[in-house]
Amino acid sequence: MRDVLAPESARRRLLVDRFAQVASLAGYDEMTPPLVEDLDVFRRVGDATDVVTKEMYDFVDRDGSRIALRPEMTAGVVRAFVQHNPLVPWKVWYSGTNFRHERPQKGRYRMFDQLGVEVLGVDDPDLDVEVIALAADFFGNVGLNDVTLLVNSLGEQGDRQAYTEALRAYFESNIDGLSEASRETLKRNPLRVLDSKRGEDRALVAAAPNIDEFLSDAARGHFDRVLAGLDSLDIAYERTPRLVRGLDYYRRTTFEFTSGALDSAQNAVGGGGRYDGLSEAMGGSPTDGIGFALGVDRILLAADAEGAFPAPESSVDTFVVDMVDGTHALAITHELRRAGISSERRFGGGSVKAQMRSADRSGARFALIVGEDEVAEGTVTLRPMRGIASDGEQRRIPRHSIAGEIRGLMDSEHRGDQ
Ligand code: HAM
Repeated sequence: MRDVLAPESARRRLLVDRFAQVASLAGYDEMTPPLVEDLDVFRRVGDATDVVTKEMYDFVDRDGSRIALRPEMTAGVVRAFVQHNPLVPWKVWYSGTNFRHERPQKGRYRMFDQLGVEVLGVDDPDLDVEVIALAADFFGNVGLNDVTLLVNSLGEQGDRQAYTEALRAYFESNIDGLSEASRETLKRNPLRVLDSKRGEDRALVAAAPNIDEFLSDAARGHFDRVLAGLDSLDIAYERTPRLVRGLDYYRRTTFEFTSGALDSAQNAVGGGGRYDGLSEAMGGSPTDGIGFALGVDRILLAADAEGAFPAPESSVDTFVVDMVDGTHALAITHELRRAGISSERRFGGGSVKAQMRSADRSGARFALIVGEDEVAEGTVTLRPMRGIASDGEQRRIPRHSIAGEIRGLMDSEHRGDQ
């Protein structure tokens, strides 16, 4: 678990704002599922996945019920869909913190943030394209260029099952060539053996049966249309038959975004796919679903490596230097903040020199200085500190029109910038 301090906190907020903008342009409304739900909700993610069997923070509540911190958002969103029965298509976006008891390392944390979307009630392959394009565009928007889109189809439920059994048979008949860890994985979920990055497994994994041989005509037709849609939007992708993803609910289209700027063990900056059976598993009617989640922590690590998406500047507009008794600093900062102009001051007084040093450190664009003379005259001294205005001379302005003066200067500076 980690603390998030400034300036990283501001950068995260900006990233979420940027995502909110992109998602709402595409017609998604924000939705916030609870941080804690009945354990059974998350069990639907799949009993064969590490996320459910090994990594969940679950505990017994005071009333004896089993609850868990959410390890991801999709299960909660689909549970909410079943519970509230909204009109379809239901298009939502979310941002929030998830918890998985993983072995922490750079880019893999026990507490991490995701941004994502989910859509329920649409089977059209154009939606798969829309969803993938939204994520791909977002990476571009943030300035990440070294991102690769991997796509696959896991087929319909029956195809997926047939493929899983074929893999089981294949790996079992070659069990001597499998690593100890992969033998364990094989017992729980043969698909996940394909994810093994262990050297000893490489040859067997490379020669394993291919999902393409198991796709029904319907699943293949859907997938072909998704690929054609991506082509039509000039979205580059790699067709990756080995991409199985870590959660059990996926059917048909699955995808992942990897960053070349991150270590290969934690290089997925996002992933998603269709989960057409999940609504039914939650007790709802059969409903098609698709979505993705992006890892905020990893996006920011990748942005660091690519020199993209810097933290926003956190400078203040004005700094009030009160050489009298502090009451002017109290009143003027209050007044300016109410007028939407950021304003800081030094507490506990101090010499003019000390106050000016604080003003400088704050990055303020204007210092507003109040001494006995200014009080007698009903003015304050305005001293430009930074930006274009810093070329200007200091001058006295009427006490009652500080906000208007500052606003005017900032507006003209803004116009001058363009
Ligand atoms: P996921 O692949 O488990 O999918 O997670 C999505 C993204 O969250 C990953 O690609 C990664 O960037 C980030 N992530 C996951 N675990 C960690 C961690 N321990 N530390 C840091 N980042 C992490 C899902 O969660 C699905 N709910 C996605 C989805 C939505 N599928 C359909 N709709």
